[in-house]
Amino acid sequence: MKSPLRYYAPCSLGLEPVLRAELEGLGARGCHELKGGVRFRGDVALGYRACLWLRSAIRVQLELAQAEVHREQALYDFIRDQEWERYIDNAGTVAVSAALNSSFLTHSQFAAQLVKDAVVDRFRDLTGDRPSVDIKEPDLPIHLFLNRDHATLSIDLAGRSLHKRGYRDAEQHKSPLNEALAAGLVLASEWDLETPLVDPMCGSATLLIEAARMVRDVAPGLQRSFAFERWHDLDKDVWSSLFDEAEERQAAGAKRSVPIEGADSHPGSVVLARRAADAAGVGDMIRIRHTDAKLWEPSFRPGMVLTNPPYGERIGHDDELERSWRALGDFLHRQKGATAWVLSGNPQATQFLRLSSERRMPVANGGINCRWIRYQIRGETP
Ligand SMILES: C[S@@+](CC[C@H](N)C(=O)[O-])C[C@H]1O[C@@H](n2cnc3c(N)ncnc32)[C@H](O)[C@@H]1O
Repeated sequence: MKSPLRYYAPCSLGLEPVLRAELEGLGARGCHELKGGVRFRGDVALGYRACLWLRSAIRVQLELAQAEVHREQALYDFIRDQEWERYIDNAGTVAVSAALNSSFLTHSQFAAQLVKDAVVDRFRDLTGDRPSVDIKEPDLPIHLFLNRDHATLSIDLAGRSLHKRGYRDAEQHKSPLNEALAAGLVLASEWDLETPLVDPMCGSATLLIEAARMVRDVAPGLQRSFAFERWHDLDKDVWSSLFDEAEERQAAGAKRSVPIEGADSHPGSVVLARRAADAAGVGDMIRIRHTDAKLWEPSFRPGMVLTNPPYGERIGHDDELERSWRALGDFLHRQKGATAWVLSGNPQATQFLRLSSERRMPVANGGINCRWIRYQIRGETP
């Protein structure tokens, strides 16, 4: 039996247990949580499946090789010895990233340059020509991790970050949640995919769109392409059967529907939210209202509220912030019996909700330390 491949999937800090559960659900073995990602093992199909189906991961890296290297020359030789021509030819493009921890090299850019030179030199020697560099959308994204003298070399199956699902257009909300983080928060809330759901400050509706796509069993990667599809070693049969299966699941789930509504006080956000929901194939399931949370009455009784109010680090000024959180508090107090999860990056703001939390899950949102906070709104059950 072939030995399993070794993979690593990074995610937002705090989402590791969510990602691990997703991976185990896909059949990954040996899952091991690290800070900001999960290491796992499996076959080639699992790597493709992970790109297509993982909702909370940012990328999927395949580990190619490890070595002890004590000097620049040894690192260069190690890189140059890899069979890069298995993946691309000299018409392809590469990009290299590097991370260093207490290593003999001190500048990650220098390390990345050295890796790039070694790859390019191998092609030049073999063919007389060389691949070029494309940092935006390389055919072969390469990553070096140098932990003291221990080098780990990986390639990224996804290419563009997995949060880029393909449903968001160029015009963006000024403070959108990253789709992978939004999906991870929905999964962490343990929403049952049935309970009526609302977001009273939905912005471009990322939480609601990701939730609706779970209901419809839409693979998050179905509307985009991946770097591995351009590699010479692509197993076309495996990939096309996985893709066909995802299309069949999407077709089977197309009629499923759960009451989902969102509201936002900013008219521009409402336009963006509707457009994104349509592009994501769930526009018929999600209703978006232009209204203030303070006054909003959803058209059904929600059992679950998931929301990401402004937290000041990025948008809103202090008075505005207090008004928004008080408005959210007013809305939540009316949802007797519901469970609410609120993303907060501002510990002072949560006091304006006038509710006691039940659980606080630390999670990072674009470098801001946040808490995904659970509230049980006391009263009759909906
Ligand atoms: C951080 S953004 C939400 C981003 C959203 N999660 C997304 O992915 O696009 C916060 C949103 O709260 C909205 N907001 C602030 N105060 C509000 C209020 N009183 N009622 C309704 N919406 C409000 C803002 O217009 C903004 O769109």
